[in-house]
Amino acid sequence: MNPTTVAHRPWPGPAFPYVVGESTRMQDVYDVMTRVAEGDANVCIEGESGTGKELIAETLHAVGPRRDRPFVTLDCAAIPDVAMDRELSSHVRAGVTLFLDGIGELTPHLQARLLHVIRTEPQVRVIAATSRDLRQAIHDGRFLGDLYYCIAVVHVELPALRERTEDIPLLVAHFLCRKAARHRKAIRGLTSRALESLVANPWPGNVRQLENWIERAVVLAGADLVDVEHFPPVVRDTTAMPLPPPPRRLRLREVEKLYVLETLEQTRWNRTAAARLLGISVRGLQYKLQRYLGESTSIVGTP
Ligand SMILES: Nc1ncnc2c1ncn2[C@@H]1O[C@H](COP(=O)(O)OP(=O)(O)OP(=O)(O)O)[C@@H](O)[C@H]1O
Ligand SMILES: [Mg+2]
Repeated sequence: MNPTTVAHRPWPGPAFPYVVGESTRMQDVYDVMTRVAEGDANVCIEGESGTGKELIAETLHAVGPRRDRPFVTLDCAAIPDVAMDRELSSHVRAGVTLFLDGIGELTPHLQARLLHVIRTEPQVRVIAATSRDLRQAIHDGRFLGDLYYCIAVVHVELPALRERTEDIPLLVAHFLCRKAARHRKAIRGLTSRALESLVANPWPGNVRQLENWIERAVVLAGADLVDVEHFPPVVRDTTAMPLPPPPRRLRLREVEKLYVLETLEQTRWNRTAAARLLGISVRGLQYKLQRYLGESTSIVGTP
């Protein structure tokens, strides 16, 4: 492959910064996000705990036309009734985006109050998040249907992590890079059996749980590879096999590749800027890119 092809090849990575996942379930999420990104319709984000509702809300705000205006988070479960009433009044102003986290927890009084705010203050954008099934709550008479239809103009449904296990290697690579940098550990990756055990785990706490486990493992791993012994015992037990395969060595250049691609993404594929950040020459970067084009992304290597 010649260098010109490399230079003009579009980056096929995530459409939204910091949101990791290439599964079809996440592609569906990106489709909805892309459609809503340029406008400022109200959005309702539904998903189990830890699936990334807050991350998606922040991302939608960060790419939207109101990105320079305030983004105010109101935790509906934590703020008492009277305080919430006050909070709502104090934040309602032109251009504001209200992130109503845990909207399913609002009392009937506050649901009515919020509905009034949305109806009378069209300059307020609402992004709501819930881990409850609001349609069921409407059916049971616990949530105002009118409020739901005002908020869920656009509806984003986040999949549980167990429904997109093909994204686990990417998420692991993402968190390994970040946590290793944060804890100043020279972690180069993980063994294949460690990755296999993560893919097989049911993840009731979704991405947050995976993130916590990777952080813990990075802190515990004395050596440069994370292995199953660095995970909480539960995962080790469920993956205990009669003859566990020996850990395979990680390919350093695979981690390097992820790091290089991420830097390019950060600089919007400005190779001069990326090369400077990476501390290599543009020519050196070009060479690496040519090499990567023939490979698929993987964080574990062959023995
Ligand atoms: N697709 C993703 N890519 C990268 N990181 C993610 C992704 N989804 C979630 N995370 C990370 O997982 C953690 C939990 O996500 P977040 O707080 O957005 O979940 P949540 O759905 O709001 O959870 P809860 O219902 O408990 O409030 C955060 O650190 C977030 O950055
Ligand atoms: Mg949240």
